[in-house]
Amino acid sequence: MEKIFKKNICCIGAGYVGGPTMSVIALNCPDYRIDVVDVNKERINSWNNIDLSKLPIFEPGLDKVVENCRGKNLFFSTNIKESISNADIVFISVNTPTKLKGIGANYASDLSWIEASARQIAKYSRNHTVVVEKSTLPVKTAETIKTILNSSKEDNTNKKTIKGNKTFSIISNPEFLAEGSAISDLQNPDRVLIGGEDTESINLIADIYKHWVDSKRIITTNLWSSELSKLVANAFLAQRISSINSLSELCEETGADIEEVSKAIGMDSRIGSSFLKTSVGFGGSCFKKDILNLVYIARSQGLEKVANYWEQILVINAHQRDRFSKKIIDCIEKNNLEPKVLLLGLAFKKDTNDTRESAAIYVANNLLNSKIEIGVFDPKVNINQIQFDLSDLNENYDKTLVKFIQDPVSNISNYNLIAIMTEWDEFKEFDWQYIYSKIKKPAFIFDGRNILNIEKIKKLGFNYTGLGRK
Ligand code: UDX
Ligand code: UDX
Repeated sequence: MEKIFKKNICCIGAGYVGGPTMSVIALNCPDYRIDVVDVNKERINSWNNIDLSKLPIFEPGLDKVVENCRGKNLFFSTNIKESISNADIVFISVNTPTKLKGIGANYASDLSWIEASARQIAKYSRNHTVVVEKSTLPVKTAETIKTILNSSKEDNTNKKTIKGNKTFSIISNPEFLAEGSAISDLQNPDRVLIGGEDTESINLIADIYKHWVDSKRIITTNLWSSELSKLVANAFLAQRISSINSLSELCEETGADIEEVSKAIGMDSRIGSSFLKTSVGFGGSCFKKDILNLVYIARSQGLEKVANYWEQILVINAHQRDRFSKKIIDCIEKNNLEPKVLLLGLAFKKDTNDTRESAAIYVANNLLNSKIEIGVFDPKVNINQIQFDLSDLNENYDKTLVKFIQDPVSNISNYNLIAIMTEWDEFKEFDWQYIYSKIKKPAFIFDGRNILNIEKIKKLGFNYTGLGRK
C-alpha cells in the first residue's frame, strides 16, 4: 500500500540549492513527501543513479542523505506537471543569472526561469498552494510571481479548465547554505528566514524546519525584508573578502603580513574571524550576482552613492584576480621562461565541483590572452566543464594552449611555474620535496590561497609568491 504523507512538497530546480536542500528536508521530515523536478533530464538521471558517486553535485555527505531517502520520501523526476498538482508547497529553486541584455543588462537578474516556474504552478496547481522563493532574487520579485499566479488563475477560470478554487500564498525563504558545507549548513543553520504576508503560510513553512531546527533560530519577517536580507548577507560576506584582499596589496608594499593582520583583527569579537581569508578573489554563483542586484536596485532608486559603494566590492575582486595574473605573466617575462603554467584547482572553493565565477577561470583567461599555455588540474572538475567555462569568457580562446592534466605530480617536469587557485586540502598534502626534484628550474609557486608553509617551501628551493606576505 502506498504511504500517505502529511504534506507533499515539490521543488522546481534540482541544482546546487534545490538538490541538497530538499534532500536534507526529506531526511528530517520522513512524514513529508518531497518531489524534486527539473527540465534537465540528464541531471535528473544523475540524481537517480544507483552509483552515488555519479550524483550531479559533489557535496560532502550528500550521497549518504540521498541514499537514505531516495525512493522513500525523496523523488527526482521530470514530472513537473504531476508533482505541482499534488503539492501543498512548491519551492522555486531555479537559476537566476545576471541579465545579459535588455533593461538592467549586466546588473539585474534574469527572472525568465522564475516566471516560467510561476506559470507552471499557476497552470498545474490545485486548491491552495504555498509558493516558496528559494532562489536568490531581487527585492519585490514576489510581486512579479503574484501577478503571474493571479492573472493565470483568472485565465483558467474564464476558460473553465479548472474546477474549484485555486489560491496561492507567496513566501520568501532564502537559502544560506555555502557549497562544500551544504549538508552541515542545512542541518545546523545559524537561522532560517521566512518572509511572508499570511501567518498560516509562514507557519506551514516553519513547521518543516521545526522538525530539526530550534524555533529560536527560525525568524519571520515581511516578504521584502526577507528578499533584501539574502542579498545583503551575501554582500556583507563578499565585502569582508574584498576588504582583506585590498589590504593584501597594501601588505605587499609595506612588509606587513596579511595573515597576521587578519588574525589580529579577527580576534576582536566585534569583527570576528570568518571571511577574512585573503584569496585570488571570491567566486561562486551568488556573490557577484547578488551585489549586482543590490547595485541595480540602489541605482534604480536614484541612490548613486549607495550603488557606487557596494559596486567597489566587485572592482576590488576583479583587481585581485588581475594583479595575481600579472605577477605570473611578469615572472615569465622577467625570467625568460617557457610560457607554461600548471594551474592547481578550478573550482571556486574546495569541496565542490562548481566553477561558476571561479577566480581560476578569470586568471586562466588572462594567461591565455598573454599566449601562455596552461595545464589545468582539479580533483572534481572535468575537461568539458573547463572548456565550457573558458569559452563562456572568450569563445575564441586558443584551445591549443589548454592541457587537461589528470596527474599533476607526474606531469610536473614540463613546468617551471605552479599556480594554486583552489584551496583543496590535497594540494597542501602533495609531496612538495618530490615535486621540487622533478620540476624545471628555476621553480616558482604562486599561491593564490596562501595555503602552503612559506618557510618549508622556500627551503626546498622554490621561489614562492603568496598574497599579502613576503
Ligand atoms: C541557485 C539559486 O536558485 C540561485 O538563485 C542562486 O543564486 C544560485 O543557486 P542553483 O541551484 O545553484 O541556483 O542553480 P543550478 O544548479 O543552475 O540549478 C537550477 C536548476 O533549475 C537546473 O538544474 C535547471 O535545469 C532547473 N530549471 C531551470 C528548471 O527545472 N526549470 C526552469 O524553468 C529553469
Ligand atoms: C555563499 C554564502 O556563504 C552562502 O550563505 C549563500 O547561500 C551562497 O553564497 P558560497 O558561494 O557557496 O556561499 O561559498 P562561500 O563559502 O561563501 O565562498 C564564496 C567565495 O569566497 C569562494 O570563492 C571562497 O573561496 C571565497 N572566500 C571565502 C574567500 O576568498 N575568503 C574567505 O575568507 C571566505
